Amino acid sequence: MNLFKYTNTNKRYYQLDYYYKKKYNHKVYKVSLNGGFTCPNKDGTKGTGGCIFCSKLGSGDFAGNPSLSLTNQFNEIKCIIDKKAKETKYIGYFQANTNTYDTLENLKSKYEEILKIDDVIGLAIGTRPDSITDEVINYLEKLNEKTELTIELGLQTIHKKTSDLINRGYELEEFENIVFKLSKRKIKIVVHIINGLPNETEQMMIDTIKYLNKFPIFGIKIHMLSVLKNTDLENYYNETKFRLLTKEEYIQIVCNQLEELRSNIVISRLTGDPSMNDLIEPKWTSDKISVLNGIDKELHKRMTYQGFNRSILNFTKREVLLNSQKKMHAIDATCGNGYDMVFLTKVFKNTVYGFDIQKEAIQKTHQLLKKEQAKNYELILDSHENIGKHLFQLKNKISVVVFNLGYLPGSDKKITTNYKKTIKAIDECYKLLCQKGIILITVYKGHDEGKLESKHLKSHIKKYEYEIFENSSKLDAPYLIKIKKEF
Ligand SMILES: C[S@@+](CC[C@H](N)C(=O)[O-])C[C@H]1O[C@@H](n2cnc3c(N)ncnc32)[C@H](O)[C@@H]1O
Ligand code: SF4
Repeated sequence: MNLFKYTNTNKRYYQLDYYYKKKYNHKVYKVSLNGGFTCPNKDGTKGTGGCIFCSKLGSGDFAGNPSLSLTNQFNEIKCIIDKKAKETKYIGYFQANTNTYDTLENLKSKYEEILKIDDVIGLAIGTRPDSITDEVINYLEKLNEKTELTIELGLQTIHKKTSDLINRGYELEEFENIVFKLSKRKIKIVVHIINGLPNETEQMMIDTIKYLNKFPIFGIKIHMLSVLKNTDLENYYNETKFRLLTKEEYIQIVCNQLEELRSNIVISRLTGDPSMNDLIEPKWTSDKISVLNGIDKELHKRMTYQGFNRSILNFTKREVLLNSQKKMHAIDATCGNGYDMVFLTKVFKNTVYGFDIQKEAIQKTHQLLKKEQAKNYELILDSHENIGKHLFQLKNKISVVVFNLGYLPGSDKKITTNYKKTIKAIDECYKLLCQKGIILITVYKGHDEGKLESKHLKSHIKKYEYEIFENSSKLDAPYLIKIKKEF
């Protein structure tokens, strides 16, 4: 069972392809273009050397040939794709250099030349955060109303030391300001970041992702740093021989980043696209398929997905999947709104038993299960401390019990689980567990009874084999306790 919702394949992250197919019911191709722009970090306005990793062609080595007109550049690629695939749609991707760095008049004429071509549904415009004037934003706002528009912003890293080292030439505030302005006009933003920049640790790369989660961005591109011929980075690499990531390290880091990334951020790319003629290191980046397969395999092995770390409930679901035994039953000891019951009834074939002390919770759970067309359940309006009385005939037949402590969301916050009853219920459930059966308890410390419950539970569970899962260092963040019956 793939628990990731933005996919209709085995992918565990939100692919751009999936977004396009959902929206247009068509495959959409991006055609890279060279609009003949320059860059303020190269022409002397901001700097002359450019970012140290940037190639002669302004990081647009697969963009079209700038000596051809934009229409010809576009049609060269379109003809090849049209032969291979039917009924495709296209996005013109202004890739090389800084594609908003020109007069409004020139920008308009170049963008609109592409939009006139048949089957073009939109534009992706690559640029720097410090190079979009208010005048251009006003125009982009209008363009955005009639076409599929994304602005691709190079950020690369949030860390100032790295940013200075790679000569980006703008401050993080400039990125924040432009994100604010574009998102206010509802213009979609795709942020580019690079892994493996000199002296960056894995934690720094993950912090860049955590930072981006806070902004209303549409998408992200993650690249591996490539050392290309005739760049300042080539000299820096030869002088310092700084360590580049191995393929295996890169895969691990990207998976860790994806687990942190908000699940509704679209992934435009997870590998770099260096020109092989210019690539010095790392050579493994040339095999994109193997990197992408490695990421898929690793997420599959971990049973995680994009955004996994953002909710402790994902950890519960994974443990249920890993520990459900086909011929056994399950119990939800705190039905609440019924979401856990719905999940359990999908995982188990046999009857799943749900308990709650509130009539309202039982009713809500019942309605939700009916809507989901679940058949294999029984709901019991009673306290979970009495589970043993109701289910004594199921001794050794329960492989998963779920507790979600606290109060019923959206209801009377004074009615909460209570540590004495919870402890009694855990002991009762443990007696019913089959061999290798588990009890999963999500503990919320964000209210007074929850704090007390957490304290007592932590000492009570010591008599069992247990594990604690935490996904946040925040003081009152919920956490998961797993109790396992080994024999
Ligand atoms: C945090 S909610 C559970 C949320 C639920 N798992 C869901 O998916 O919506 C906690 C629930 O535990 C119930 N509860 C509190 N004390 C209980 C007890 N002694 N026995 C059974 N349920 C209890 C509350 O009524 C509340 O509905
Ligand atoms: S902003 Fe882009 S085009 Fe300009 S130097 Fe940096 S990477 Fe190259």
